[in-house]
Amino acid sequence: MAIVLDGKTLAQDTLVQLKQSVAQLYSDSDQTFIPRLAVVLVGDDPASHLYVKNKQRHAKEIGIDTVCHRVDAMITQEELIAFIETLNDDKDIHGILVQLPVPKHIDAQRVIRAIRPDKDVDGLHPHNVGLLAWGNPTFIAATPQGVMRLLEFADCPFEGARAVVVGRSILVGLPMTLLLGAHNATVTLCHSYTSNLPEIIAQADIVVTAVGQPEIIQGHWIKQGAYVIDVGISRQPNGHLIGDVAFEEASTHAQVITSVIGGVGPMTVACMLENTVKAATAFYEKL
Ligand code: GUN
Repeated sequence: MAIVLDGKTLAQDTLVQLKQSVAQLYSDSDQTFIPRLAVVLVGDDPASHLYVKNKQRHAKEIGIDTVCHRVDAMITQEELIAFIETLNDDKDIHGILVQLPVPKHIDAQRVIRAIRPDKDVDGLHPHNVGLLAWGNPTFIAATPQGVMRLLEFADCPFEGARAVVVGRSILVGLPMTLLLGAHNATVTLCHSYTSNLPEIIAQADIVVTAVGQPEIIQGHWIKQGAYVIDVGISRQPNGHLIGDVAFEEASTHAQVITSVIGGVGPMTVACMLENTVKAATAFYEKL
């Protein structure tokens, strides 16, 4: 049976270290400098509200100030971008995060592009994705970074491994592909046009899936001894959360696996807060 990775404990370890860094900044600055993160939440998607609350709770635990701007769903694209520009210019804000998804009438890419790259703690701005592609990243998207930390914790041998990423979103699939490639894995990126997904998965030493389709990855597809990271979350009609991977059967094939709860989610929050401390430290050093 596979080892189920404990993302909650690993994230907690990261948060403990971050708390020390924040305290150090505070004492170095004669108790004047506190990292501050602005979160922009557009509309009233209940899941997004929950995620943001969780991010704010953990930020507070480690001494990061957060300001959450709840914005009406009917805001225009221009108004939202103008608002982001005020945050860009605010010298007391060190990180900016626009919770995704945004309502349909707003172009998420234009919104992300409006964020100053040195405040982009989500690591989604094309400047930051470009630096990652060049192998010289500053801010790496939090979820793929969290996945790498989990795999590293599990001593996953990346070099020469066959890695398969399922889903090509800017939040997960695309940066995940770049990160695995940077670790010398041979990476295949699968998506909705991929015709032979079961055969490709069956060859994978590492599977990272982020599509949000319940159990799209069947357990018996998984190669014996594979490392399987499930980023997908879907809510069933009965309220239960379910991943992209058929967990029970996949666990009998994989060497290492994550579950929907306590897997990647806590690592995403920890890695985003790590980016926030990094952004704030860079600001402090320029003061
Ligand atoms: N929505 C789901 N995950 C994320 C994330 O990591 N960052 C942002 N901004 N929105 C999200």
